[in-house]
Amino acid sequence: MEKHELKVQKIKEGTVIDHIPAGHALSVLKILGITGREGFIVTIACNVPSKKYGKKDIVKIEGKELKVEEVNKIALIAPTATINIIKNYNVVEKYKISVPKEIVNILKCTNPSCITRSEREPITSKFKVISEKPVRLRCVFCNNILELEDIEKQVSEKY
Ligand code: CTP
Ligand code: ZN
Repeated sequence: MEKHELKVQKIKEGTVIDHIPAGHALSVLKILGITGREGFIVTIACNVPSKKYGKKDIVKIEGKELKVEEVNKIALIAPTATINIIKNYNVVEKYKISVPKEIVNILKCTNPSCITRSEREPITSKFKVISEKPVRLRCVFCNNILELEDIEKQVSEKY
């Protein structure tokens, strides 16, 4: 390693979310509700070189295991991410995140006259994934399209 390279410290136990699209690490932390004031080590690297994608972000969280619902939300804004579970400094599990085929009850349709937003009898929102990288969704009820920008805004402001 050359001396002008910054070596990001390995973690002992926890989760490393790698290959996040460049610039989206902070949204991932927001989805997880991590503020940095919890007391455990959180390392964020933005726009670091990546062989596969040119640039990427990385988030390392000491002492954290992700829940399925958290992984599903991360998939929406970081469909290229890899989740690494670390135990005693070793990667004991590694998997590529996968985007679910349908997104149910997580996002709100941006069309104000969509039936899912009716004030009297709102029904559960449901979107079909029409593109994965970047994620684009189509409302099953009104065919309105949710772009990555809408999705990112919603998942990161809710938590
Ligand atoms: N990592 C860490 N702490 C550890 C072990 C690994 O922070 N104790 C990080 C590494 O820095 C890397 C990621 O977890 O960002 C995955 O580690 P590893 O599988 O060893 O790296 P690569 O082989 O480069 O992963 P990939 O093939 O998924 O790019
Ligand atoms: Zn709709």
